[in-house]
Amino acid sequence: MKRKYIIAGNWKMFKTRSEAIYFLLQVQDKLPSSELVDSVVCAQAPLLRDLVKRQGDNLKIGAQNVHFADSGAYTGEVSAVLLAELGVSYVVIGHSERRAMFNETDESVNKKIKQSLAYSLKPIVCVGESLEIREAGNTNEFVSNQVEKAIEGLSKEEVKDLVFAYEPIWAIGTGKTATPAMAEDTCKVIREKIGSLYDEETKEAVRIQYGGSVKPDNIDDLLSMEDIDGALIGGASLNPDNFLYMVNAALRH
Ligand code: PGA
Repeated sequence: MKRKYIIAGNWKMFKTRSEAIYFLLQVQDKLPSSELVDSVVCAQAPLLRDLVKRQGDNLKIGAQNVHFADSGAYTGEVSAVLLAELGVSYVVIGHSERRAMFNETDESVNKKIKQSLAYSLKPIVCVGESLEIREAGNTNEFVSNQVEKAIEGLSKEEVKDLVFAYEPIWAIGTGKTATPAMAEDTCKVIREKIGSLYDEETKEAVRIQYGGSVKPDNIDDLLSMEDIDGALIGGASLNPDNFLYMVNAALRH
C-alpha cells in the first residue's frame, strides 16, 4: 500500500508574524500539489490565524499543542474548538519538549488525541526514547508502550487517520540523526504494534514520520525507508528553501 508522504515543519517557538508571513510568500507558489504530498507547518498559536488565511491550496497549518477540555479555567491553554474554528488542520501532540518541560504524560496525550479527533484536527503524535533508554536496549519496549497508551480507547478508523512521529530525544536539535536503518527499525516496531492492537489494514494505513535533525542532506535516505512516511522537522524547516527541498524530496520516493 502506498501511503501519502507528510512533511511537517515544527517551528517551535521561532518566527515573528512578519517572518512567518514572509516564509509563506516564499513557498506558496512552489509547493507540490497536496494530492502528491501533505505539506504542513506547525506554528505558535498567535500565528495560526494569519497562516491559515494565507495557506493556499498546497499547505496546511498545524498547532503545537492543544488542551483536552472543551473550555474552562485553564489559563494559558488553547482549545481544540478554537483551533478548529480558525481552520487549523493538524496538531502536534506529546512532543518530547512538552513531555520534558510541560508535564505532558501518556495520559494527557491520549486525552488530547481524543479531543483533537472530536474537532476533526489531525493529531501528529510524537513518541521517542532518551539516549539512556536506547543504550539500555529498551527502545522498542518503551516506544511500543508510548504508542499503546497514546491510542488507548481509539477505534480502528480513528487510528488509521493518525500520524505518528518517531523522534528519538537524543536526535532532536543535536545534529545527531538516527541512521536511516535505526529510524526504520523503530518505525517498523510502531507499525507492528499498531497491527497487533488493531489489524493489518490499520497497520498499513497509519503514517509514521521520523523526526530529529532531519535536513536536506539526510531526508532522501530517511524517506527511502519502507516504514517512514515523512518527516517532522524542527530547525531545518525554518528556512523556506530547505523546506521546499524537503517537501520535494517526498516526490522522489
Ligand atoms: P530538529 O527538531 O529537526 O530541530 O531536530 C525536530 C523536532 O523537535 O520535531
